[in-house]
Amino acid sequence: MTLRPVRIAGTGSYLPEKVLTNQELEKLVETSDEWIRSRTGIRERRIAAEGEFTSDLATKAARNALEQAGIEPSEIELIIVATITPDTLTPATACYVQEKLGADRAVAFDISAACSGFLYAMEMARSLIAAGGIQNALIVGAEKLSAFVNWSDRNTCVLFGDGAGAAVLVPSENGGGRILASHLGTDGRQTELLNIPGGGSCCPITIDNAEENLATLAMQGREVFKHAVNAMRRASEHAIESAGLSAEDIDLVIPHQANLRIIDAIVDRLEVSKDKVFINLEKYGNTSAAAVAIALDEANREGKIKSGDHILLVAFGAGLTWASAAIKW
Ligand code: COA
Repeated sequence: MTLRPVRIAGTGSYLPEKVLTNQELEKLVETSDEWIRSRTGIRERRIAAEGEFTSDLATKAARNALEQAGIEPSEIELIIVATITPDTLTPATACYVQEKLGADRAVAFDISAACSGFLYAMEMARSLIAAGGIQNALIVGAEKLSAFVNWSDRNTCVLFGDGAGAAVLVPSENGGGRILASHLGTDGRQTELLNIPGGGSCCPITIDNAEENLATLAMQGREVFKHAVNAMRRASEHAIESAGLSAEDIDLVIPHQANLRIIDAIVDRLEVSKDKVFINLEKYGNTSAAAVAIALDEANREGKIKSGDHILLVAFGAGLTWASAAIKW
């Protein structure tokens, strides 16, 4: 079977209006702007409004991507939403997005791969289009992490934010841009390093445990940091090599936006120059599955990616999971 090349036809993103600065966090927990900036690079993050759900953020980002791709919602055949903060445990957030967009034709489902989720979704959609099963796909990374953060835990609450990013994938014309290679990985032995322990079938929230904040993010920061650097470096090398490229061929690296120190460590090891790395985490914090998608859209709309450029996307998250993609734009 001949596999069709697949390209990104449009990108989009949406960030909620409300800004939460480090200075405002100083009033919530014992922290400081200086500590947060020096350890993470984050200055502020966005917080969704009370009645604004993950599917609302996803739908707005999706509309932007569809508009740029010149594709109507009614034409979309597949919607994958990557999220760890779904509107409801079931149905999938993608079902709400399908309804909000009016994308009646689309098959819609979620994937849960934490911060790597958008790149997992990209590879699922790419494979289906490449095999000829579908003509297009809308992939979205969307999170309302503010609903799953323990706002009294300074170890985690300063790190995360809300937002959504999206992309539309279609078959590529001959010689045009395409996804050249991707690499996905999982290490299920490390589930305890970063998780939301409660709210699932193993630990339902009850009257007895309601005050323990079990349905919020728990993390062993230092361990996660080490794994993140190693896994993202290896995933980057994999994608670059599988694409038949070398590090100097990469025009722009768009890494997961969790922590500036993690990004610096990867860039050093990859030997890519720092001016080729796109960073926006100072404005949004870690938006998990949305982070790479938002950064891709901002880089695209700011004119930082030109036709023919080679870009590298790389992410890492709970699971542990990691993922990368080398793309010719
Ligand atoms: N403000 C002030 N102090 C804080 C703090 C905050 N918001 N959060 C933690 N601290 C304290 C700790 O309690 C600790 O104090 P102690 O030494 O008295 O126990 C001290 O700062 C140092 O903590 P440490 O864990 O050594 O800090 P660090 O340099 O490893 O930075 C992280 C902490 C969380 C920023 C860092 O480990 C990290 O970025 N990890 C990866 C997180 C991540 O990206 N997760 C998502 C991956 S997808």
